[in-house]
Amino acid sequence: MKVTVVGAGNVGATCADVLASREIANEIILLDIKEGFAEGKALDIWQTAPINLYDSRTIGSTNDYAMTKDSDVVVITSGLPRKPGMSRDDLIATNAGIVKTVTENVIKYSPNAIIVVVSNPLDVMTYCAYLNAKTDSKKVFGMAGVLDTARYRAFLATELNVSPKDIQAVLMGGHGDTMVPLPRYTTVAGIPVTELIAEDKLNEIIERTKFGGGELVKLLGTSAWYAPGAAAAQMVEAIVRDQKRIFPVCAWLTGEYGLKDIYLGVPVVLGKNGIERIIELDLNDAEKALLSESAEAVKGVMEVLDNMNATA
Ligand code: NAI
Ligand code: 2OP
Repeated sequence: MKVTVVGAGNVGATCADVLASREIANEIILLDIKEGFAEGKALDIWQTAPINLYDSRTIGSTNDYAMTKDSDVVVITSGLPRKPGMSRDDLIATNAGIVKTVTENVIKYSPNAIIVVVSNPLDVMTYCAYLNAKTDSKKVFGMAGVLDTARYRAFLATELNVSPKDIQAVLMGGHGDTMVPLPRYTTVAGIPVTELIAEDKLNEIIERTKFGGGELVKLLGTSAWYAPGAAAAQMVEAIVRDQKRIFPVCAWLTGEYGLKDIYLGVPVVLGKNGIERIIELDLNDAEKALLSESAEAVKGVMEVLDNMNATA
């Protein structure tokens, strides 16, 4: 299997490192626009192979898309990250230009590739990739929910002093402050989380999860990369190994949850064809209201992109 990661910065290089060290793909192309940068990162990653005992090959490229030819999966991480004081939406104009060019190049050399978008603002950059890839929406989707649920699960594991492995959760909506963690669908080794934690503590954790990206931006001066890179790699693994894993993924909706023509986080089955199916949960009225609020927020930013395209 051949996987390309576009953007050799913090998230892209971390993703490539996980793909290589866990032998998720046998050939990984890491591409960046900055001269020599991807080659340097790829060489450094490759030199961990004798230490970590794997043989997946990571190869760097400065903007040479011919090297990405016939990739099975492409992860797009190119674009500016957030700085303190910025929202994800502040990145839209710059990153939309980058995601458009990158997607056109990727599709030119790998017309059948499955595209996983990571660049922010996530839901709208995924829409941007979809518009420019001109391919099946089941093959263009975004990574956010795997990261956001990982944060939620990590906070719960700390609070309950249990293994994060035992915490399962669903989270829906956009990758922003309106994301919708769902306590009703959160379990600890099959036990509903509400039986193990006080309501006010759980609400605190939900609020912390919603602002989990911002918490790290404040601490690091830029956005996070270890968990985002690992989350994108986990999605790639589900695709290349046809695992049929259920993850919250930013997917194109065509009527599911009463929503259409929007990219939004929903639970899906991921396999070799990309999104194999979208799972429709029986949300209660309060959950539906939160999801619709989140959808409104995402629609607003999608319109910004549509207006930019209309005037371009
Ligand atoms: P970074 O600045 O470390 O890396 C971005 C890389 O993209 C740079 O190396 C840059 O040279 C490259 N790049 C820029 N334009 C390019 C082009 N036209 N072609 C190829 N490469 C290009 O940033 P980082 O931290 O890796 O974040 C990348 C993106 O991912 C940001 O937009 C960030 O907001 C987003 N992100 C999204 C998350 C999510 O959950 N969806 C989580 C974390 C970050
Ligand atoms: C994150 O959630 C900023 O989207 C980025 O870490």
